[in-house]
Amino acid sequence: MNERRRPHSPTAHRPLLAPGGGRRSLSNVGGAVETVGDPKLTTRLAHALSVRAGEHDATLTHPFHAYPARMHPEIARRLVSLTPTATTILDPFCGSGTVLVEALVAGAHALGTDLSPLAVALARVKTHRSTNGDRKRLVSVAHTIAKEARALVDSDLKATAPPGESHWFLPHTLRELIALRARIDLEPEGFVRDALRMLFSSILVKVSHQSSDSDPELRRKHIAPGAPFPLFTRKSFELAHALAELSRAIPPDTLAATVTTDDATTLATIPDQSIDAVMTSPPYAANYDYATHHARRYAWLGMDASAISTGEIGASRWFTSSLDKGATRFERELTGSLTAIARVLRPSPASRVFFLIADGAAHDTPMPADEVLTRAAAAAGLVVLGRASQQRPAFGPEAARAFAERPRREHLIALGLPSR
Ligand SMILES: C[S@@+](CC[C@H](N)C(=O)[O-])C[C@H]1O[C@@H](n2cnc3c(N)ncnc32)[C@H](O)[C@@H]1O
Repeated sequence: MNERRRPHSPTAHRPLLAPGGGRRSLSNVGGAVETVGDPKLTTRLAHALSVRAGEHDATLTHPFHAYPARMHPEIARRLVSLTPTATTILDPFCGSGTVLVEALVAGAHALGTDLSPLAVALARVKTHRSTNGDRKRLVSVAHTIAKEARALVDSDLKATAPPGESHWFLPHTLRELIALRARIDLEPEGFVRDALRMLFSSILVKVSHQSSDSDPELRRKHIAPGAPFPLFTRKSFELAHALAELSRAIPPDTLAATVTTDDATTLATIPDQSIDAVMTSPPYAANYDYATHHARRYAWLGMDASAISTGEIGASRWFTSSLDKGATRFERELTGSLTAIARVLRPSPASRVFFLIADGAAHDTPMPADEVLTRAAAAAGLVVLGRASQQRPAFGPEAARAFAERPRREHLIALGLPSR
C-alpha cells in the first residue's frame, strides 16, 4: 500500500477571491483546516485535504488530459492510503480517473463509473496497463496518422465537421481536424485506437475558439496552420511515457481497472455488498455544466451525451430558474447516490466512504456542501464519521457576493455504515 503519513501543518491564508473571475483548480488554497469528529481520523482527513498546488501532480497518467474539477492526484493518493486493507475501491463519479490510477498503484481493484462517455473513455485509457508493444505502436501510429492527415488536408477531403462545430475553429484548423479524425477512424478497434481518440480529445479545446476546458465561452484565438499535427504527436510521446510509468508502478497481480458508464444515483452495474471503500468527488452544486464543457469532444468523437445532458448532478443549468429548484434536485440526487453507495458497500465496520466536495453558490446564495451531504447521508442510512474543511477561492463577482459573510470551503467527509 502507498502509505505516506506526514504530520499536518497548516499553511498561510491566501486571499478569498481569485482574481479575474475565471474558474480555477479548487485545491489551490492553503490555510487552517477545521475538523469535526474523532481526532485520529480527522487528522488524517486534514492531511489528505491540505495539499499544496502543484504537489506531486505531474506523475503517472494524471496530467495527460485536462478535466474540469479534476481531483488533485495527491489528495487521491492520500485517500487511498487511508484504507490500506481495502481490496476493492469504487469511484462512482470517476471523471478522468484520478482515484482509479492511485487505487491501481496501491494494488487495489479499481472500479470507476461516470455518466459522461468522455470520462469513461478517458479513464479507461489513463488506467490501461500497457505493454511496451502497445506504447511503441501508439507513438508510431500517431506519427503516421499525423503525416497522412497533413497530406489529406491538401487533397479532396470528403469528410465534414460535426454539425454546429464549424464556427468554433479557424477554417484551416477545421480541415486539419477533419483529416486527423478521418484517419483515426480507419484504425482497427482496440487500445491504440482508443488512445488515439483521447490524444485527439486532449488537443481539441486548445486549437478551438473555446476559451478553456473549464470555460465554455467562445474566444477567438490565433492558431497557426498545421498546429494540431505536432501537438498530436507530442501528446503521443507524453502518453506513452506516462503509461510506461504507470505500468511499472502497478504491483504484479493487480486486477485491471473496470470503468463503466453508469448513473451514480443507481449504480446499476455494481453488485450489492461488493465494495470495501468509495472515494469520490461529485460535481459541486452549480459549479459546472459538464455537458456544455465537453460539447466539442462529444461532437467530434461521436459520443452520445444524452444521459449526461439529462442526468448530470449539480449542473449550473439546473439552478438557472431558481435556487430552490436546483438545490432540492441536488440534495435528492446526492441522497440517491449515497443510497446506491450504501447498497454496494460490504457490510463491515471497516467499509468507508470519502466524499470531497466544495460549497456551491447560486443567485448570490451560498450552499454549504457539508450540510447538504450530512442530510443526504442520514437519509441514505450512512453515518458521518468525521470531516475536514479548508477555505477555497470564490470565483467571480457572483460567488464573491455569496461568500461575503462566510468563506467558501472544500470538505473531505468520511462516512461509514451504522453499527448494528
Ligand atoms: C468533480 S468531477 C470528478 C472528477 C474526477 N475526480 C477526476 O479527478 O477527474 C464529477 C464527475 O461527475 C460526473 N457526473 C455528473 N453527474 C453524474 C451522474 N448522475 N452519475 C455519474 N457521474 C456523474 C461528471 O461527468 C464528472 O465527471
